Amino acid sequence: MKAIILLVLVALGSLFAQEAVLDLTKLHSYADQEVPAYINRDNTPDNNPITNIGATLGRVLFYDKRLSKNSTVSCASCHQQEAAFGDPAVASVGVAGTTGRHSMRLVNARFANERRFFWDERAPTLEAQTTRPIQDHIEMGFSGADGDPDLSALVERVSGIELYQVLFTAVYGTSGVTEDRMQRALAQFVRSIQSFDSKYDRGLASATNLNADFTNFTASENLGKRIFTRPPGPGGGAGCAACHQPPTFDIDPNSGHNGVITSLGGGQDLTNRRSPSLRDLVNANGGLNGPFMHDGSKATLLDVVNHYNAIPALTQGLDPRLAGPPPRPGGPPPQPQRLNLSENEKGALIDFLGTLTGSNIYRDEKWSSPFDDDNELSFVVLPAEARFSSENEVMTVEATGVPRVTYFLKSSSDLETWNDGVAITADENGLLSHEIQDMPKAKFFCFVYRSSE
Ligand code: HEC
Ligand code: HEC
Repeated sequence: MKAIILLVLVALGSLFAQEAVLDLTKLHSYADQEVPAYINRDNTPDNNPITNIGATLGRVLFYDKRLSKNSTVSCASCHQQEAAFGDPAVASVGVAGTTGRHSMRLVNARFANERRFFWDERAPTLEAQTTRPIQDHIEMGFSGADGDPDLSALVERVSGIELYQVLFTAVYGTSGVTEDRMQRALAQFVRSIQSFDSKYDRGLASATNLNADFTNFTASENLGKRIFTRPPGPGGGAGCAACHQPPTFDIDPNSGHNGVITSLGGGQDLTNRRSPSLRDLVNANGGLNGPFMHDGSKATLLDVVNHYNAIPALTQGLDPRLAGPPPRPGGPPPQPQRLNLSENEKGALIDFLGTLTGSNIYRDEKWSSPFDDDNELSFVVLPAEARFSSENEVMTVEATGVPRVTYFLKSSSDLETWNDGVAITADENGLLSHEIQDMPKAKFFCFVYRSSE
């Protein structure tokens, strides 16, 4: 028997004007994004590489408010694309009040040497991190305490949403929803959020080394780069690079806290030793993606620089690099770091931080909401395979769906006009199959799932 594979489907955009469509035949590229050669850190675990389909599921979960107790809050409520996946508010609004710390930007999380997540590094991996907000009483409310339902109730809720049965099947082969599967997909999506199209990257790409002046930088930006990189002391540096390591600007895993010790809940918090990458502190329009630090206490980059210029106090757990010179017998009492930067040097440091800003993360559709303004995602397009048997002149079109769920088989001869589609219900094993007797004119096929939620 001769079998030929014809098919594949493309943009159905025109068919579904105004409706939110997730087209799995034309996935965005999450897995194969270009990473500059000088980036040599990657915390992707061997058992959860980014795939285009997995990150696509992660994208839907990330933007779905139904992951919170009262369906009002999604991950994206506090991690907004236009703010480099942070939140302009000091404290973010969750289902039961406001968060105890400032939200973190999620840029280049994949390229961090510190593999523990959160300001205080309490999540051992990014995978483990992703379901913590769901289980937080304030953030998304499936805590299993204080009258909240627990995570199994959320898993049950997601399992009951047919759209997710369709998507989990497309990613994992079966429709079962588990915490592990949600974590994998969410972590893939978060790891995919990368930003390497900054002025700094263009400078580094054409420079011989990290420490050379960049030809595309202004004099002030190059001065700022030297101050950022050099250790404090006679060289006139500020020592930032020791903890915020170029070229990723992720945090040194051995960092102590940096002397910002106020807790939003009142009192002291000496546990914050992680920082998001310092990339995209400034957004593509020159505005700030602040406020900064775990307590959101620094509204501007000048506030940040002033903090390091004169660390307020020697407190327990302060990183030794910020603790000033060791006391000498008979010398003055110990005093934390005093950089004595001039106004000009502070300005240069701020100018340099501005070169770490990209533009793609703020506008790339692959990281945007897949839902429409009414929080609906109406259609999922699945690829179909078509086989023609010349023996009996039958064309068989097949795909994997969810058992007993109905899809529509659409066909086209030119990828422009599509027929209305025959309703096909997947069998007990999820097989979607349709036989066409006469040699059809259509060359392209897809199965479309229409959500009724
Ligand atoms: C109500 C606001 C809110 C929601 C909803 C929320 N987050 Fe967060 N996110 C935060 C805050 C605040 C922090 C810092 C918390 C801390 O360190 O204690 C944070 C930290 C993180 C981090 C750590 C980043 C790093 O570099 O260490 C990741 C990753 C993250 N969130 C992902 C998610 C995902 C995925 C979801 C949805 C499942 C989500 N967040 C939902 C507010 C929120
Ligand atoms: C000893 C390590 C260390 C050094 C040196 C250091 N930092 Fe930090 N930095 C941290 C830690 C830890 C945090 C997170 C602290 C927190 O929020 O409580 C942080 C946070 C920040 C933030 C806030 C990031 C955000 O997403 O809100 C900025 C901006 C920053 N540092 C800039 C600098 C600059 C500029 C320098 C040099 C003048 C510098 N840092 C030197 C450890 C360091």
